[in-house]
Amino acid sequence: RKAAPMPDDIRAMKGGTPIVSLTAYTTPMAQMMDAHCDFVLVGDSVGMVLHGMPSTLGVTMEMMILHGKAVARGLKQSMMVVDMPFGSYEESPAQAFRNAADLMAETGAGAVKLEGGRHMAETIAFLVARGVPVMAHIGLTPQSINTLGGYKVQGRGAAAAALMADARAVSDAGAFSVVLEKVPAALADQITAEIAIPTIGIGASVNCDGQILVVDDMLGLFTAFKPKFVKRYAALGSDGEAAIASFAEEVRARAFPGPEHSFADKAPT
Ligand code: KIV
Ligand code: NA
Repeated sequence: RKAAPMPDDIRAMKGGTPIVSLTAYTTPMAQMMDAHCDFVLVGDSVGMVLHGMPSTLGVTMEMMILHGKAVARGLKQSMMVVDMPFGSYEESPAQAFRNAADLMAETGAGAVKLEGGRHMAETIAFLVARGVPVMAHIGLTPQSINTLGGYKVQGRGAAAAALMADARAVSDAGAFSVVLEKVPAALADQITAEIAIPTIGIGASVNCDGQILVVDDMLGLFTAFKPKFVKRYAALGSDGEAAIASFAEEVRARAFPGPEHSFADKAPT
C-alpha cells in the first residue's frame, strides 16, 4: 500500500481483513507502527500513559495538538485519528466543530474521535456534514468515568439494548467507524453484525471489524495497572528498568564509559 487510507477506506474494510490500530503519542512510536497499522489514534489516554494523570479528564486541546503534531511526523502509510478531549465537544455541535477544525488544521489529522452514543448523534451528523470525519466511541467511555461509576463492563444484561441503540445512532449519524470498549463479546458480535460501519474492539470481541490497544499497554511500558483486555506483547518497562540499573551500576563502578565511548586527543587516521 502506498498512500495512507482515508476514512472511507477504513469504512470499506467492514467485514474484511480485521482493521489494525494502536495509539501513539510520539514520533518514534508512530514510526514503529506506521507500516503495520491501518490507522493510528492519538488517544487522550496520553494523559494517563505519558503524563501520569489519574484519568483522561484533565487532557487539554493543547496536549492533543502537541502530541498530534508529533505523531503526524512519524506517519506515512497509516491514517491518523485524534481524540477530542473532555470538554471540547459536549456543549454543542458548534463547539465541537470549532475544536475539531482546530485539531485537524493544527495536526493534519484526517479524522477525530469523540465519546458518546445517542446523545452525540446530532453532533456527529453536524461535523460530518461540514467535512469532519468522525470515529465514535461507545461502551466504556473513560471521559464519563464519574457518571459511569468506574471502569466497568458496559451493556451487560438489560443494558444491552441501550448500547445497541447507541451503535445504531452513531452509524446512522454518519460516523465512519466506532470503537467498542469493554462490552460483552456476544453483544459486540451482535453490534458488528447489525451496523453498517466497522466496529473497532478494545475489550470487546475477536469478531469486531478491527482491534485497538494502547501501545504502552501492549508493549508493557505502562505498568501502573493492566486491564483484563490488554495482552502484553513485550515487557519494555521491566527491560528498560533493568537497562537503567546496569547503567547505574557501571557508572558507579567506573566501567562506563569505556575506551570505545571516549575520544583520543587526535582523530584516528
Ligand atoms: O484514548 C485512547 O487510547 C482510546 C482508545 C483506548 C480507544 O480512546
Ligand atoms: Na480516548
